[in-house]
Parts: sequence; C-alpha cells; structure tokens
Amino acid sequence: MKVIKEPAEVRKTVNRVRNSGRSIGVVPTMGALHKAHRSLMSRARAENDFLIVTIFVNPTQFGPGEDYSSYPHNFKEDKEICSRDNVDVIFVPDKDDIYLQGHATTVNVTGGLTDYMCAKYRPGHYSGVATIVAKLLNIIKPHRAYFGQKDYQQFRVIERMTVDLNMNTEIVMCPIVREQDGLAVSSRNRYLTKAQRRSAPYIYKGLKEAALRIKAGEAVESKYIYEFIMDKIPEAKIDYAGVFDAKKLTPVSNIKNDVVIAAAVWVGKARLIDNVVVKTGEKQWRVS
Ligand code: PAF
Repeated sequence: MKVIKEPAEVRKTVNRVRNSGRSIGVVPTMGALHKAHRSLMSRARAENDFLIVTIFVNPTQFGPGEDYSSYPHNFKEDKEICSRDNVDVIFVPDKDDIYLQGHATTVNVTGGLTDYMCAKYRPGHYSGVATIVAKLLNIIKPHRAYFGQKDYQQFRVIERMTVDLNMNTEIVMCPIVREQDGLAVSSRNRYLTKAQRRSAPYIYKGLKEAALRIKAGEAVESKYIYEFIMDKIPEAKIDYAGVFDAKKLTPVSNIKNDVVIAAAVWVGKARLIDNVVVKTGEKQWRVS
C-alpha cells in the first residue's frame, strides 16, 4: 500500500493502472475511518482491481460554527485499517494542493435536490461536497466511486453532478451500517454522552415506524416523526424530519413513487442524520 500526497503522483499511478486495463474504485472519506467506511472499502475492493481511499477533511463543506477544526482525525489508525483492508493507495492531499492559490471555481447542484433536507440547514455544504468530489474524480478518474446511503442527499447530489458534468464514473450507493441497536454508524457518534448514545437509536426507530406505516398504506406526516423522536429524546433538536421523493428529494404527501424518510437531529453536540427508503415500485414494498 502506498500513501500519496501529491495529486500529480496519484494521476501518474492511476494512469498506469488504467492503461494496463485494470479497473479503479475510489472511496472518498474525511478519515476517522470506521466500520461504515470499511463496508464501502470492502464493496469497492470486491468490484475493482485497484482501490484508492482518499482522506481529506474538506474545509469548504463546513459552515461557520461547524466542527471543521475539531473534526476527528487519526491518520495512524486510518493507515492501519487501510492496510488491513487491502487498499492499494491512500491519497491524502494537503489543503493547498487541492485549493490552489486563486481558487475560484465552485460546483453547485441546484434545483429541488438542494432545496430541502440538509441543504436547507447547512447552506453551502453541498457546493463544498460537489466541488471536492468533482476535484477528486477529476484527479483519479475512477471507474466507480462509493458513498453511503446515510448521507442520502449527498449521494443524489453527486450522482446528478457526475451526469451533468459528463463524468465517466459510476456512483455506487452502499447500505447504511448500523450498530446493534440501530444507530447509524457515524464519526460524529463519538460526540454523544453515554446517556445520549442510549437514546440516539430512537431516531432510526421513528423513521422505521414511519416506513412501516407507509407500507401499511397510512399517510405519515412529518409531525408523526417529530413527535415520536421528541417523545423518546426530549433533549433533541430536530432540524427536519419528513418524507421526500427518493429521486427528486422534494417533500411528498401523496406517495406514488419511492420515498426516503429522512431526519437530521441534534442530540447534544452531535448532528445525526439517518434515513429509510421505501421502494413502492415492487409488489412487496421494501424498506431499507
Ligand atoms: O461523506 C464524506 O465523508 C464527505 O462528504 C466526502 C464525500 C468525503 C467529501 O468530502
């Protein structure tokens, strides 16, 4: 396994791999690797000949007052995980090599995809995400890039961006990895106190309960999810909770197509996001 800092060196390496006819998979991360990242890495490893993990805490996707400066990092541990998981290259660029002096280009994915859900509460976040992912995909030009379902909006934004910018990379969504009690695995779970950690799984329980009701043919309003979560986690502060079209990410009341039931909830210092997808296109509605 090689650790590469220079974008030019990564380019050279991937050109060699591509020219030899091998496929390249990339897992973009901000480090602090955990089992959810490892599930992306494992899928990418299985589907590609060459696996690159990028580690870059991207400043442009954090808003003022967010946790950019305190975002967890432990490169030594990340390196051990990557080595154990058979990663070929860790690309860990410096900020100044990514955002060059005079940097003046931002990628904005507009329309319904960034009107609701997290985009409403984190202005500029998805421009930061789209910009850094566009840069990484331009440098590496992988055959496939892997993202978790947990940040469902991020996935849809990146998917749209790659289509709109004619990028030749397949964007693959991987299932949410959960702790035994249902809490979605996240780097930010470490901000929870013990008591908060015990109550946090109720976010998922609320979303799942809403999904089961939808599956049973009931109309579920945001109010139902809010009340479920607030009843179980009185200290929670809910940014949003609701039912959205799974492709357009606009709010839905009369369900005809696949939907994503999603929420962003502050529990203490941790802003936790989670979602459940209900697929209506199949005979038996499927919840994932
Ligand atoms: O999901 C993340 O960890 C980040 O948003 C990403 C995709 C690596 C971009 O910085």
